[in-house]
Amino acid sequence: MLHKNNEAVVSMSSLYTLYTLFTISSLYTLWAVVSMSASSNYYSVVNAVWSCLAACFLLAFCVHKISLHLPKRLERSRVYLLFEDLIRYGKTKQQIKRDSWLHVFDVPKRWFWHFYAVSVVWNGALIAMHVNHPYPVWLTDILGFLTGVPLRTISQVPQVSTLLVLLLLWLHSVRRLLECLCVSVFSDGVIHVVQYVFGMGYYVILGLTALCSDHQGAGQGAPEAPLQKLGWLHVGGIVVFIGASLLQHCSLVQLARLRTGRSGTVKTLAHRMPSGGGFEFVSCPHYFAELLVYVSLSLVSGGLSLTWWLVVLYVVFNQALAAQLCHEFYMSKFKSYPRQRSAFIPFVL
Ligand SMILES: NC(=O)c1ccc[n+]([C@@H]2O[C@H](COP(=O)([O-])OP(=O)(O)OC[C@H]3O[C@@H](n4cnc5c(N)ncnc54)[C@H](OP(=O)(O)O)[C@@H]3O)[C@@H](O)[C@H]2O)c1
Repeated sequence: MLHKNNEAVVSMSSLYTLYTLFTISSLYTLWAVVSMSASSNYYSVVNAVWSCLAACFLLAFCVHKISLHLPKRLERSRVYLLFEDLIRYGKTKQQIKRDSWLHVFDVPKRWFWHFYAVSVVWNGALIAMHVNHPYPVWLTDILGFLTGVPLRTISQVPQVSTLLVLLLLWLHSVRRLLECLCVSVFSDGVIHVVQYVFGMGYYVILGLTALCSDHQGAGQGAPEAPLQKLGWLHVGGIVVFIGASLLQHCSLVQLARLRTGRSGTVKTLAHRMPSGGGFEFVSCPHYFAELLVYVSLSLVSGGLSLTWWLVVLYVVFNQALAAQLCHEFYMSKFKSYPRQRSAFIPFVL
């Protein structure tokens, strides 16, 4: 009886989650259509890339949620195993029975720092190029391709929003690099080679996306105000960025302390039940903080850039999927896991 009640609660919460996602997606689509009809750059490659990524992760999230209600025998099918192997990484991979051939694609999760090292170098270089206008021809051509605005002939003005976004992105990458190397305690968890390749390209595209705003602005003949003009959205965005960075850092320190003793020496590589701080509200406060970091970048970029909100949408679905898998892992591993704790966004998801 209790079991059946639990199942009813789980399927109600799944329906609620799907309903929430459906509402968010519908509202977003409505908003996107309205914004697009007002924008001349909505057909750009950069918007298509982020829309596709967001759609892929939303689809993966929905397929995973639905698969929880399918017959158990389907879990042994090759397609299902391949799908789960592609969306999972680290501790959540332990939950599925993986065929031996799938191990060929494993890359150590402790290589996460590679992504941030690439970001620090690449986005540092973009900042230097942004400050020392004009851009080299190859970069102008790439931005022209991404935005659909051929800019070889237009002289651009460095925009304060773009420079700030790039600087915050660079600071975020430096902090994450240091956390990967000096704070986090990694186990022998793995990621898929496809995820690794994706991660290596991710921050390259992200930096170019930041520069695309300049291109779009310049393409419309509307260069932004000079550097000294900081608006309230910039200040608000920076405040959110600092708060989100602190939350993420503290959450990662808490996870590391689950494996270390008082002196800092590693005592175990097991996955233990996190509690305290942001973990009282959600299973993955560091993923929620990641979302806030991107919201802050969107605010700093001016708050009205469709491209940046598409990036935020991608982060919503990407981190929602990872948080959902992590939440399921904790729920199945720890019998005393607090049932009221959300997976990703406090009291919502
Ligand atoms: N923007 C994006 O597209 C994107 C994508 C992915 C990640 N991220 C960000 O990158 C950061 C790290 O992500 P992640 O997925 O690697 O986080 P994670 O799986 O929670 O891992 C973070 C660290 O904590 C350890 N850990 C995790 N759960 C633990 C537990 N229960 N007990 C003890 N140690 C535990 C992990 O070790 P092991 O896993 O090695 O055991 C790892 O060292 C997050 O802030 C996330 O938001 C961003």
